[in-house]
Amino acid sequence: MIKPHGSDKLNPLYVQDTATRKALLKEAQGLPSIVISSAAAGNAVMLGCGYFNPLTGFMNVADSISVAENMKTKKGLFWPVPILNVVNDASKIKGAKQIALKDPNVEGNPIIAIQTVEAIEEFTDAQMKLMTNKIFRTEDPQHPGVAAFNSVGRFCISGPIQVLSFSYFETEFPETFRTAYQIRDEIQKNGWNKVVAFQTRNPMHRAHEELCRMAKEDLKADGILIHMLLGQLKKGDIPADVRDACIRKMVEVYFPPKTVMITGYGFDMLYAGPREAVLHAVFRQNCGCTHLIVGRDHAGVGSYYGGFDAQTIFENEVPKGSLELQIYNADHTAWSKKLNKVIMMRDAPDHTKEDWVMLSGTKVREMLFNGESLPEEFSRPEVAKILMKFYQEEGGK
Ligand code: ADX
Repeated sequence: MIKPHGSDKLNPLYVQDTATRKALLKEAQGLPSIVISSAAAGNAVMLGCGYFNPLTGFMNVADSISVAENMKTKKGLFWPVPILNVVNDASKIKGAKQIALKDPNVEGNPIIAIQTVEAIEEFTDAQMKLMTNKIFRTEDPQHPGVAAFNSVGRFCISGPIQVLSFSYFETEFPETFRTAYQIRDEIQKNGWNKVVAFQTRNPMHRAHEELCRMAKEDLKADGILIHMLLGQLKKGDIPADVRDACIRKMVEVYFPPKTVMITGYGFDMLYAGPREAVLHAVFRQNCGCTHLIVGRDHAGVGSYYGGFDAQTIFENEVPKGSLELQIYNADHTAWSKKLNKVIMMRDAPDHTKEDWVMLSGTKVREMLFNGESLPEEFSRPEVAKILMKFYQEEGGK
């Protein structure tokens, strides 16, 4: 099986032994504590799961700047996005060697992890600006990822963590939420060697479905890992439970049994386009995938990124040999009216704009909101039905 990133063995930071975890939780009640940001809680979950292997905790200022600038930690580990625990006010934990991190996303703010504090430093304005520009390629406060990144504070608490809970992900998505080590185990049990991962934050429409099928065929892969984001999204994006239901239905009806694993991970969407695509690649390698599909506007939002920037970053900026996982580059994919099927645009150079069935996300939302059926060329009827129910009963909120 493909090795994890940066080490021979995966080192998840979740304390797996129940008795030890309970004892640590008890001990943590007596520690100085702090409610962390949703982004930091997502980082803790990802570290706990082994997705962020080989990191042992939260980065300090020097590593964060180095990662933002060069996609490398000070020690030279390839890493695309700073993994931070940043807070507005660190006065409560001043001088503490160990602290309890509290979960902002669960009622009562239960403890999610214990952190050994190596340093508490303050990012300067210039450092925040530099990181924002490097990670998001913009500093526009309208960008949802930029807004979230700059809203959590300046105090950077660095140091290793022991993770004690997977937040709300395990309880709210028991069928779907998986750690990297669970996925590795399952891949091994399935006897799969070549596994192609599909990142998604959307219900899967026909283009998504076909991308998975095409990638599996082209790569002669043994299986597909559908790996959906279960964390926080911007307003207007479809909630995880609805997406999950759509994806499960699509796989059940349209894929042969035992060729697809439907899974999810607990992390807030960054909307960082190219840099997030690289992070996606790192953590898909950590969960045992050999390939990751990167299509049009991967992890993008609005018009901040070029349609294929998330592919070119791997060619132009990721040093060769940084990752073992390979990228499956997909072109814009849609229904061809001429050929009566979903294909990649690069395979139909004779087509004009009118030959394709294309709907923007905004248009899809508008149609569902108004009770208009989605065209079958765009969305499977079983999927469209689930979406329509959500929009009609809950107004798409
Ligand atoms: S993402 O933010 O998680 O990337 P989404 O769930 O819409 O968003 O996309 C999942 C993957 O499918 C990404 O790799 C994206 O580039 C790709 N993708 C989505 N729609 C298309 C399309 N019509 N053509 C090509 N690639 C697409």
